[in-house]
Parts: sequence; C-alpha cells; structure tokens
Amino acid sequence: MNYPNQKRVETFSIEINGKSCRAISGETVVDVARREGIEIPTLCHDTRLEPAGACRVCLVEVEGQRRLQPGCAWKVQPEMKVTTESDRIEKHRTILYSMYMADHQLDETGLPVATGNGNQLRELCKTIDPLPLEPVKAPRAGRPEDVNPYIEFNPELCILCARCTRYCDEVEAVNAITLSNRGGETTIATAGNRGLLDTTCELCGGCIATCPTGALIEKKAPVNLVTLETEVTRSTCNFCGVGCQLDLHTHNDRVVKITSPEPGETLNDGNLCVKGRFAYDFIHHEDRITTPLVRGADGELHPATWEEALTAVASGLNAVKEKHGADSLGFISSSRCTGEENYLMQKLSRAVFGTNNVHQCAAT
Ligand code: SF4
Ligand code: SF4
Ligand code: FES
Repeated sequence: MNYPNQKRVETFSIEINGKSCRAISGETVVDVARREGIEIPTLCHDTRLEPAGACRVCLVEVEGQRRLQPGCAWKVQPEMKVTTESDRIEKHRTILYSMYMADHQLDETGLPVATGNGNQLRELCKTIDPLPLEPVKAPRAGRPEDVNPYIEFNPELCILCARCTRYCDEVEAVNAITLSNRGGETTIATAGNRGLLDTTCELCGGCIATCPTGALIEKKAPVNLVTLETEVTRSTCNFCGVGCQLDLHTHNDRVVKITSPEPGETLNDGNLCVKGRFAYDFIHHEDRITTPLVRGADGELHPATWEEALTAVASGLNAVKEKHGADSLGFISSSRCTGEENYLMQKLSRAVFGTNNVHQCAAT
C-alpha cells in the first residue's frame, strides 16, 4: 500500500570509473562511491550534515557537465557517468591543495601541521607535488581570550569548511558559532566574539570532532598527543542510560582523551555530550573509591574483597527477609547502569528475593 507522504525509493545504475554501481535516488556521488569502495577525498563532508560543497576537494567529472562537480553534493541520476581520477582532476587537486597550503600553518617539512586531533588536509597534501605559491597572511581572528575549559580554536589551521558551524546548527541545534566577516577576514566566531561560556554553547565538543584540520582542538588533552602512543579501547559511557559508545585513549593506563566512534558506527552516531567527552578526570581522581568497603563492628568502613563485600550484602538482605518478609526489601537501580544491569537488578529482586519492589531512577 502507498501512503500519501511515502517517498518512493528508486534504485538504478550509474557508472563510476567505468564500473556499474547500484544507486538509490537522493544519494550523492560520494555516497555511492564509498559503498562501492571507490575513494573520493573529502574535507567538508560529514554524513550527519547537509552537503555544503565548501572545500572543493571532492570534485569529479560528470559526463555532460562542463565543470567539475562536488561529489559530496551532486545527486545521482539514472545512467550518470562519473570519473573520479583523471589528469584534469589531478591538476585541480594540485592547485587546490597548494592554495590551502599557502594559507595554512605548515611544519618544518612544509606540510600542514599535525595536531592531536589529526589533520586530514595534511594527509591529502602528501599526495601532491605542491606549487611554489607565496604564503597568504590572512587576517583571520581567533578568540585568544576565550577562557572556556575545553575548546581551543586556531585560525591558522582553519580552512573555513563550516563543518563546525553546520554541526552546531544542524546536529546540536545550538548555533553558538558562526562564519563571520568577509574575504580574507572570514573566521569562525561567536556572537560579539564572546567566550563560549557566554554563548549558547553546550560544550559538547562535536565541533572538535568534526573539524577535519585540527583547527578546533581539546584544551585538556596533552599537547604532545600528536606523538604520544595511545591505546584505544571501546567502552560505554556511564554518565546516563543512553548507552553512547566512546573510545578511551590511554597512555600508561591513564585516560588522556575520549572520542566518539565514527558517525554511523554506533548508536550515538559520532556524537557525545559534555560529560561523555570531557568529564574523565574522575577516573584517576585520588578520592575515588576503588575497592569495596565493609562497615566493621567498630562502626568504621574497612577495605574488603568483592567476595567479602557481596557476602556481607547477601547475609544482610537475607536477614531482613527472614525477619520481616520479602516485601520489606526494595531494590533501586540507576539510569547510569546499562539495560543489562537494570535487567539483572529486577531479576535479583523478583527471582532471588521474591519481591516486586524494584525501581529505577529514570522511571520517576
Ligand atoms: S561545543 Fe557543541 S555547542 Fe559548543 S560550539 Fe561546539 S558544537 Fe556548538
Ligand atoms: S574550525 Fe575546522 S570545522 Fe570549523 S570551519 Fe575551520 S576547518 Fe572547518
Ligand atoms: S567534501 Fe565535497 S566540497 Fe568539500
């Protein structure tokens, strides 16, 4: 049955580099190419955002089109023929990357500087023999006075791709940052150039995560994160019950940074909130209780093994049940626990102790 507002999904074939590829109406050339394993470089593209066609890195040849077209924004049509590698495209990339390099902070090797948040432009520039262009001294302003604790903006690394501002608008719906000024002075600014703490910013850090050049970086992460060897461990955020997946970056068994898995990979689609991304100091805080404590006959808490602690809990609960009945017990779980842990809590309450007195704080 067709419903009035139902969109018809059409599938058809297009050709990319002579290869026949299945495409779905509404997809872009980059969508189809990536599914087919055909690499098209991108910088301003983010699957969570409306295409902006801002960086021009993804230009491809489309048969019948006089100009190269942005693969990230160009919608597929039946029988379309696309070329992603040619002398013309290579020449375009050489000129484009060289212009970016002329307007970018370079390191001693002449490449865009590496940052603790990566720099995809640096990797692209390694693929060309750059043209000898005069460096541009664009008067882009930063916000050196911004005292927010988490986010730093370096205008020398910004390519004005607007991923950060579009993310802030389209995903966070916050609009704390915006493209401001004109020409060479164009920069990423806040209203009145205030610090982020004086704007609507929620300090989610999504702008850092989406920035392809490291122009936005995390203030908290060690400055040497570029060279620091880190191990990455996938985990579940324990600040609430949503279950966002995050990647813990550790060095010498200490968490030095937290990032989100790539968009599309896990349920949080590359997003995290301020707590999930930045509130990791508690992990190594000296006040943190790292071993069970059991109150002794002296009334004081003493360190114990898990076995000792669980035995004390079980005998205490059993003693109450024997004396006052199962319904004198109540079990309260937390929205910070996973669904599986909450399930186990109600199982413990109902199946082990025989009471339905079980609750969870998110239900109130
Ligand atoms: S931290 Fe989040 S809310 Fe703040 S500017 Fe960045 S994307 Fe916007
Ligand atoms: S700060 Fe990063 S994401 Fe924002 S416009 Fe500049 S390069 Fe793009
Ligand atoms: S990725 Fe297509 S124009 Fe930037």
